[in-house]
Amino acid sequence: MEKDRIFITRKIPEHLLEPYTDMFDFSMWENEEEPVPKDVLFQEAEQADGLICMVSEKVDKALIEHGKRLKVIANVAVGYDNIDVEEATKRGIIVTNTPDVLTETTADLGFALLMATARRIIEANKFIAENRWREWGPFLLAGADIHHKTIGIVGMGRIGEAIARRANGFSMSVLYHNRSRRPEAEKYIGAQYVSFEELLERSDFVVSVVPYSKESHEMFDKQAFAKMKKSAIFINISRGGVVDEQALYDALKNKEIAAAGLDVFAKEPIGSDSPFMALDNCVCLPHIGSASVETREKMITLALENVKGTLCGEGPLTPVK
Ligand code: DGY
Repeated sequence: MEKDRIFITRKIPEHLLEPYTDMFDFSMWENEEEPVPKDVLFQEAEQADGLICMVSEKVDKALIEHGKRLKVIANVAVGYDNIDVEEATKRGIIVTNTPDVLTETTADLGFALLMATARRIIEANKFIAENRWREWGPFLLAGADIHHKTIGIVGMGRIGEAIARRANGFSMSVLYHNRSRRPEAEKYIGAQYVSFEELLERSDFVVSVVPYSKESHEMFDKQAFAKMKKSAIFINISRGGVVDEQALYDALKNKEIAAAGLDVFAKEPIGSDSPFMALDNCVCLPHIGSASVETREKMITLALENVKGTLCGEGPLTPVK
């Protein structure tokens, strides 16, 4: 019997594929760094029964229409705004993501970014790299305290909760805003539910963990930054599309807020010519929220299990609802 054909849009380690090679014929874009070119992606999708893709691939209506044999699209990410889920569902194609396995790793990065931004870690390292350290100074590279401050988490899903647990360890007060209240999180994390406006007004750190959707599109806009404290630090580890980037740039440049730490951008990748890179009060990272070796391996394995579950009839482990 002919094996189902799976296309993987990036080079992934052989040892992760090994347990599945008896079941499937794999082909993959043999490059870890560069995304697959569009024409290759279209050609491969046409032949494939399953597609394993990354956040960098736009799986839109045109690609889905082209993938006539496709039965499953397995995203190696928890967010799936890169996929036209509605179109896939209309065509009976299962879409899956990789929740849970990346929760703690992404929260680690969120907190690392928050700390790096508040305590000016990147600037401080650059200071030495540029040979500018002459003397110890009482306010040399002095940043903001983190402990005992108020953190406002926008989007209290699994990652939001994991950030709140870390904030508890720093004796922070935790505010959150979410589409619906999370009484169990309130109980065991001691988080207080507030409106979006109140969260913006009261928080020392505003952390965006909200998934990107039509509703969250540019929810952090000029008005939102204007409501924040002048000393507020904004952290975004969800998706760039939730921010009006021009408004954020203006708020940082005009010191309407103190600083920002950004792991995600509306259009990725950004380069050294990004206006954000020219600001001392902005720390930029190249979308590495879940990027630990252990977690990336778990995400890829979960995507493979989702493909297996779908094509072998047991059902996927983590379908997008
Ligand atoms: C996700 O899982 O959505 C991340 O952004 C990818 O690292």
